[in-house]
Amino acid sequence: MKFLWLDAACLVAVLGAAGPRVGAQCDPSPQPPKLNLSVTYDLPTFTADSPIQNMVTLNGVIYVGAVNRIYALAPNLTKLSEYRTGPRPAVAPCGGGPAANGSVDNHNVALLVETIYDQGLFSCGSADGGVCRRHVLDDGTRPKTVDEEVDCFSDRRGRAPPSDPNRVVRPSGARVLNVESNVIHFFAGNSEIPGVTGAARARAAGEPHTMSVRKMKTSQNGFTFFSHRSYIDLIPALRGNYFLRYVYSFHSGPFTYFLTVQRAGRASPAYHTRIVRMCSSDLQIRRYVEMPLQCICTDKRRRRRGSPSEQGGVRVFNVLQAAHLAKVGPNANLRGVEEGDDVLFAAFARSEPDSPEPTAHSAVCAFPLKYINDLFRKYMQSCNTAEPYHFTGSSNKACYNVRCREEA
Ligand SMILES: *[C@@H]1O[C@H](CO)[C@@H](O)[C@H](O)[C@H]1NC(C)=O
Ligand SMILES: *[C@@H]1O[C@H](CO)[C@@H](O)[C@H](O)[C@H]1NC(C)=O
Ligand SMILES: *[C@@H]1O[C@H](CO)[C@@H](O)[C@H](O)[C@H]1NC(C)=O
Repeated sequence: MKFLWLDAACLVAVLGAAGPRVGAQCDPSPQPPKLNLSVTYDLPTFTADSPIQNMVTLNGVIYVGAVNRIYALAPNLTKLSEYRTGPRPAVAPCGGGPAANGSVDNHNVALLVETIYDQGLFSCGSADGGVCRRHVLDDGTRPKTVDEEVDCFSDRRGRAPPSDPNRVVRPSGARVLNVESNVIHFFAGNSEIPGVTGAARARAAGEPHTMSVRKMKTSQNGFTFFSHRSYIDLIPALRGNYFLRYVYSFHSGPFTYFLTVQRAGRASPAYHTRIVRMCSSDLQIRRYVEMPLQCICTDKRRRRRGSPSEQGGVRVFNVLQAAHLAKVGPNANLRGVEEGDDVLFAAFARSEPDSPEPTAHSAVCAFPLKYINDLFRKYMQSCNTAEPYHFTGSSNKACYNVRCREEA
């Protein structure tokens, strides 16, 4: 298994040097807003019975994952159908049972769609022992409602062991990405949040892996791991006391990416954001590489004064709050970026000192994926790389060239 963690600082320097258009533009937009604020807009709305946690669309239908409910909405936001996932008896694989004593709310941890077999929606809840439900949405004869055909994506009765590939998510939070080619791969990054309620109990029961890739069986009733190299976990010394939050995941070209917030280094009390990259075609985690990602804002008007995080008019935002991958349109004002290029838009905050908690200071940065990939390539070629301590227990220098087959 090969891992790399590219050396810090460099990325910051390079993204900063690439200019404010690539990093961030702190100055207010010179153009007046196009929105006419004196007009009353009559927009469609939908109000869920419980907090909304995830949202995906397929064939024009909007699927909403909320506490104890999955909703299907029309484009005008009227409700088409709904499915109840809870409250239900405490943590067990999905399945029936009325709300009983000791029943818990089922938070929607992950919601994703599949279009290879039947059109399918996967919903993975916090109270289902990590297992997902599959909602068949169209089996080729006609569209179905979200509650019509729902299967528990586990072939076991009772609690499954942690290495069961059907255990996908943790209650503490997860990012799950479906990478489809002629098969379905689910990449999952599971967060480790010290001190959250139920974390100790879930850990005692054996939690799903920190990072894993699984293949959906062609029998469509579960997942398989290709081998014991299809997953990686935090080293035992860090489990339960290491903050690692998976914030966003996406794929672009031959790669699958995850964005995390975690400690800045083995001995550092500070927190930062990292971008993780793997090959989408890999059924084992063998070409894994990560590096720090920061949002840097250069502000001409504040060049003289400033705290350490505002040195020379440069403001650093360290903890990612949300992100979105998009292709740039025809009039993108990003240097060196062409129409159709993938760009990562990321909202960062400055954290409280030595904490992952955000303050009210925030900024949005746009990162063209080709620059991120150039940096990965540059640091790997120059061997400016080390093992990631949280997964290997070692931060020794390691030299390895990670390329995906399809990479140009
Ligand atoms: C904004 O909308 C109001 C009300 O419809 C209208 O009277 C006004 O002319 C509009 N302003 C612009 C700049 O379009
Ligand atoms: C919203 O869309 C649904 C399905 O397309 C339709 O049946 C319904 O009449 C629409 N409702 C409104 C208020 O437009
Ligand atoms: C639930 O538990 C409480 C106390 O543990 C008990 O008083 C109550 O009768 C129980 N209710 C049901 C429906 O079992």
